[in-house]
Amino acid sequence: MQTMTISPAADALDIGDETLAGHERVLFCRDDESGLRAIIAIHDTTLGPGLGGTRFKAYPSDQDALHDVLRLSRGMTSKNAAAGLPFGGAKAVIIGDPRTAKTPELLRAYGRFVDSLEGRYVTAADLGTNSDDLDVIGEVTTHVTGRTAAAGGSGDSGPATALGVFSAMRAGAERQWDEGLKGRVVGVEGAGKVGGVLTRLLLDAGATVVVADPDPAARERVSAATGGAVQLAETLTGPELDVYAPCALGATVTVERARSFGARLVCGAANNQLPTPHEDAALHAAGILWVPDYVANAGGVIHLAGAERLRRSPEEVTADVRRIGDTAREILTRSAESGIPTGAAADEVVAARLAAARA
Ligand code: NAI
Repeated sequence: MQTMTISPAADALDIGDETLAGHERVLFCRDDESGLRAIIAIHDTTLGPGLGGTRFKAYPSDQDALHDVLRLSRGMTSKNAAAGLPFGGAKAVIIGDPRTAKTPELLRAYGRFVDSLEGRYVTAADLGTNSDDLDVIGEVTTHVTGRTAAAGGSGDSGPATALGVFSAMRAGAERQWDEGLKGRVVGVEGAGKVGGVLTRLLLDAGATVVVADPDPAARERVSAATGGAVQLAETLTGPELDVYAPCALGATVTVERARSFGARLVCGAANNQLPTPHEDAALHAAGILWVPDYVANAGGVIHLAGAERLRRSPEEVTADVRRIGDTAREILTRSAESGIPTGAAADEVVAARLAAARA
């Protein structure tokens, strides 16, 4: 097991718009026996230990992996702070193709690195990792959330994420329409673990739902689960949508796309929804209400932290997730009153929470 902690002085590395200097600790992990190569980035522990998932991905270059983990860990600081959790921001990437590189030995080697941080970093699942992997990681460290119920974890966070998105969307809809979500047409992009549950909640709230997913099996699942009550498509098109819910990939939210759908509200589960930060102001200027991604999609981390670290009962966790609606309301009101874009308003709320904790 080899580690290297690099200092902010190594800032000369070309990592795009990210900087190492803004992070508390970055750990490069290498284990030759299992072939593990990973990076753990702890961005900010003002509010508590860094909590964030482990992404397992084949990156074009190590620089890309470093850029991704720094960006993601910074995002977790914002997400956990906006959610009111006593956790800071951190994230990890394992470099490699999970379909071929993932072995129990490699996951255990990774778990030993997580353990070496003595609780400063608490891991969870992300793209390319799942609860079964966390069970294996959990064999060598206790600093892990999201294991299977059989292994003592709280399992899939998708339903909690969906409830959080729904609560945030309702807050947005209340600002845009007198009747809220009732009678609105919502386009859900991505019928996965989050999109499927979100669709059910939207139907129950009286919305019409169009679900787009290129995977026929995913479309079939959502159709069966809703008794055929939704319109299905391979890709989302307009212009009859009122709400656009990105629940598949990042970087899909632009003024052009929202306009082409006819949407006046954008709220979904995907991380890093804006292709560039400038889109925040552009959406605001176009009168399209965007509920910032890290506010809307915090239900999963609230579920993990509450159920596994904070000893909250299932009822309390559900109430905590629903409170995302209040946070969204606070941010949308701040944006409306001060005339700043919603993303900037959310960043202000996060900065204020961190400043208060530091003071
Ligand atoms: P998932 O992998 O279960 O589902 C994603 C779905 O999107 C798949 O059915 C896939 O076929 C579909 N998809 C892929 N490309 C698409 C496209 N171009 N148009 C429409 N659909 C497309 O993922 P999950 O768990 O539902 O998460 C959805 C998003 O929310 C992801 O971006 C994830 O990172 C994010 N997220 C998920 C959380 C969770 O608790 N599951 C927590 C926070 C964020």
